[in-house]
Amino acid sequence: MQPERLIEARELAAGYDGRPAISGVSFALRAGERMALLGPNGGGKTTLLRALLRELPPLTGELDVRARCATVPQTERSQLDYPVSALDVAAMGALSRLPWWRRPGRRERASALAALQRVGLGDRAGETFGELSGGQRQRVLIARSLVQEARILLLDEPFSGLDRPSSERLEALIKELAGEGRALMIATHDLEQARRSDSVLCLNRRQVAVGPPAQTLTLEVLEATYGGTIVELPGSEHRAILPPHHHHH
Ligand SMILES: Nc1ncnc2c1ncn2[C@@H]1O[C@H](COP(=O)(O)OP(=O)(O)OP(=O)(O)O)[C@@H](O)[C@H]1O
Ligand SMILES: [Mg+2]
Repeated sequence: MQPERLIEARELAAGYDGRPAISGVSFALRAGERMALLGPNGGGKTTLLRALLRELPPLTGELDVRARCATVPQTERSQLDYPVSALDVAAMGALSRLPWWRRPGRRERASALAALQRVGLGDRAGETFGELSGGQRQRVLIARSLVQEARILLLDEPFSGLDRPSSERLEALIKELAGEGRALMIATHDLEQARRSDSVLCLNRRQVAVGPPAQTLTLEVLEATYGGTIVELPGSEHRAILPPHHHHH
């Protein structure tokens, strides 16, 4: 039996002010699946993740999201100036489950600490979130989504800016979470990492392809996805994409 479909989209279009930024998106994401979301800057990756979170209504098509979704957003420097600790940030994951008049209490803090230990940051719980490294902040945000008890995790370029050990560590954590039956969608610019995921969705304003890496990471699909900037990666037998100069928001 195939694992259950936690997300199903059919011919979905979403965008801003009634104008589609992405369209023709049709896929299923199953429990235990890691799906890489590939596309150029402005291709619509963040837009798709926001549509899955119901922050943007579908303009056309259908979207079923059958489990709680948590998000690890693309890093925004503006959020880093608040003097909150790693533990505070992780404990915020409990807010959606609390009545409006309750602040996170002892129980929520205990669950936040357990989640930080889970991502290897138990000993950094008291540190200021904004003073952690980029990789550590990503893991705190994953801890927050664990506190949310979400079965679906949407990660928006969690690897950008991470050094090799940090990204290997994050990739191992992602694999572990999928092994527990969670479903993950991971926007990325790293083709090699997409190759190691269970499935790939290529998005360039329209969905170009979706399926297992062997079927989607072909030269033809990648050219349609990235508009032809294909290069040979040094030291690799595979051809790969050099993404356009990467920017942060
Ligand atoms: N809040 C917004 N209002 C209007 N248009 C937006 C908004 N956010 C994004 N867009 C537009 O939607 C399109 C897709 O943007 P999106 O941020 O989803 O791309 P992306 O694939 O996440 O890019 P990146 O790799 O740079 O993160 C772009 O043309 C962008 O200008
Ligand atoms: Mg984005």
